[in-house]
This record gives sequence, structure tokens and C-alpha cells, in this order.
Amino acid sequence: MTQLPGLLDTEAIRKDFPVLDRLVHDGKKLVYLDNAATSQKPRQVLDALSEYYERYNANVHRGVHVLAEEATALYEGARDKVAAFINAPSRDEVIFTKNASESLNLVANMLGWADEPYRVDHETEIVITEMEHHSNIVPWQLLAQRTGAKLKWFGLTDDGRLDLSNIDEIITEKTKIVSFVLVSNILGTVNPVETIIRRAQEVGALVCIDASQAAPHMPLDVQALQADFVAFTGHKMCGPTGIGVLWGRQELLEDLPPFLGGGEMIETVSMHSSTYAPAPHKFEAGTPPIAQAVGLGAAIDYLQSIGMDNILAHEHALTEYAVQRLAEVPDLRIIGPTTAEDRGAAISFTLGDIHPHDVGQVLDEQGIAVRVGHHCARPVCLRYGIPATTRASFYLYSTPAEIDALVEGLEHVRNFFG
Ligand code: ALA
Repeated sequence: MTQLPGLLDTEAIRKDFPVLDRLVHDGKKLVYLDNAATSQKPRQVLDALSEYYERYNANVHRGVHVLAEEATALYEGARDKVAAFINAPSRDEVIFTKNASESLNLVANMLGWADEPYRVDHETEIVITEMEHHSNIVPWQLLAQRTGAKLKWFGLTDDGRLDLSNIDEIITEKTKIVSFVLVSNILGTVNPVETIIRRAQEVGALVCIDASQAAPHMPLDVQALQADFVAFTGHKMCGPTGIGVLWGRQELLEDLPPFLGGGEMIETVSMHSSTYAPAPHKFEAGTPPIAQAVGLGAAIDYLQSIGMDNILAHEHALTEYAVQRLAEVPDLRIIGPTTAEDRGAAISFTLGDIHPHDVGQVLDEQGIAVRVGHHCARPVCLRYGIPATTRASFYLYSTPAEIDALVEGLEHVRNFFG
């Protein structure tokens, strides 16, 4: 078996993930390389979910009975865990949403309805990048259409990185918000946060970071990042679906208006007007995703028991090995950085002129799960003149043997299509 420095004890870790034992397609071992789409869940998270429903299920912040108090303590306890995980200065800066898309939509809507100095209007500009997931493009397009603000973006270099050569022309005195991805879901690129934030701060623009592909894979410290908002989702980091996070700086959350109205986000309501609860509750209208938050808390406990630095080192070793092995496959072109330097563990590629959907299907027949398509980042495919890519993405339980299986599988795809 291939041994690489920095690898985790995957034999032990894989025992925590029941689904990884599955056989597919008449007894083939599952090789799950679609972790950027969603991660698998360890038993510890599955147990936390069923224990919550078996013992504690009640609505939160509403009841005086035992279960309501216990459920509230568990839900708010999950908020404490998230706050500690991202080194938030205050637990009140952690808003639960249903996913990263909702978190990003929340920021766009807060700014669209805000008063000065945050208001986005026809005299102001919004800055994103060409490598964003659609969830960090469409909310800003909607906001620009609604307010008349101008939408600008950083383009990409041929090797899959942000082209920051014109940073002073893109981020200007008119910029209200710069929103960009920390690690690209399609290219794998890790972006130079500091350079972008420094320029945004020079012109007084707010910064929002989409950390969906970062939070599961590396230590995330919102104080060190110095952004104003950070969004991520639970299901890519061993947690359940249906739970996302928006972290925002406290003074902003106090000043900015809510987006969704409803129960539990208010202080008082009359038939004429309402006043709002303090953050984070101001942004959590209605019954929140309680069990999902508890599951995310368990996922955080699990990831921390392994250590985010160790997870990062494991994935870096795997990524180095993968780019080296994929280079052996004739006609394979990596779309994105071709070395493990400043890149995450999602690797997109094309294989000659074989359509990625065909690549994915033949790999699937061998038990190898990858994602194919534009990965909700269609502008990236347009930029590189390709219809789609095949993407393999690794996580803490991925192994060098699975990368070998992928390379063998790709040889099979090439033979199959002649
Ligand atoms: N955003 C997820 C992906 O990249 C769904 O696959």
C-alpha cells in the first residue's frame, strides 16, 4: 500500500463511516471521490441525530417544559461549538441558516435593504470573481438588478488562479462589498485572501468569504481572516444537510436589517410595526434546523478530535500524490492549478475529447463516484472553453489506494472509448 508522509490513520477513521463499506454495482468496492459535493457522515454524527430525536425533540426558545429547555440548550450548545471552531469573538455572531447559499443570499439582502453606510445602490459597485459558485454569483446579480449597482469581477489566469493584476481598478472607492470564495469548488484554487482584503479595507468595502470548501478541510479563524462575513455549510464537513452558517461581525449584525421575518426574530409585534430581537435571532425567523445544528455540533467535535491541521496535511499529501498520478494519464488536462501548492483537494480535469458525463458513467460502473458537469460554476467552464469537467475530491478518509483506483479507472475509460 502506498504510504505518504502526513497521512491520517484512514483504516481507523473509515470504521467511523458506515457508508464507506458499501458495495455497489454487483459487489464493487465503493470509491467515494465526490466529497466537494457532500461528505459522508461518521457514526458519531448519525448517533447525535438519532439521540436528539429519541430523547430531546422539542421546539427551541419557546417552551418552559424539560424537553424544550434541553433542546434549546443543545441548539445553543451547537452555536458555541461553531463559534469556537471558527474562533469567533462572540457566539452571537454565528447565524444558523439552511446552507451556504442561504448565508450568501442573507448577506446580499441585508446590504440591499440597509441604510447608509452599508446600502448598495445605483451609485455603488459589487465585486465578485469569475471562479465563484453560482451561490456567490446569482444573489449579487439579483441585488445588482434590484438596486442598479454595478457588478464587477476578477477574471482568471490560464493556470486557474485569480487575475489580480488590475485589483485597483476592480476594487474602487465605489465598491461596497467584495465577495469571493476561499477555496474554489471546481478549480481547487486557494485564493490570496490577504491581498484582496487589504485592498477592500483601503476603500472601506465590506468583505464576504464563501468558505464552503475551506471550513471542512483546514483551520478557519475568522479573526485572522479579517473578513466581515464568512459563509459555509454543514453537509460538506461531516454534518447533516439542511444546516449552514453565516458568521458576521457583531456591529454589522446589530446595524443591518433582517431578511426573513417571522416567529422568534422579533422583540415586539403590533399590527403596525415590529422591533427585532438582537443578533443572531434577528436573522433566524421561524423554527430553525434544530437537529441539523446538533448534528453539525457533533461533526465539529469529530473533526476537532482528529485535528484540522492534521486533516489539512492529509489532504495536501493526497493532492500531491493525485496530481502526480493524474499526470501519468495520457490526454488528461487538469483544469486549475497543476501542483498541490495553494490548492485544495478538489481536482477537475478533462480527458481528451471524451465527454465528462461518459467518464463519470464508466467510472461509476467501476464503483468510483466523482462529480461531472459545470459544478455550479459555469463561468469557469466558459472561461476555459470546455462544456464540463470530471472532478475528484478527497476528504479525511480518502486514501492513496483510491487515487490509484481512479487512475486505473481512467485507463479503463480511455480503452472503452478507444
Ligand atoms: N457545491 C457542491 C459542489 O461543488 C454541490 O459539488
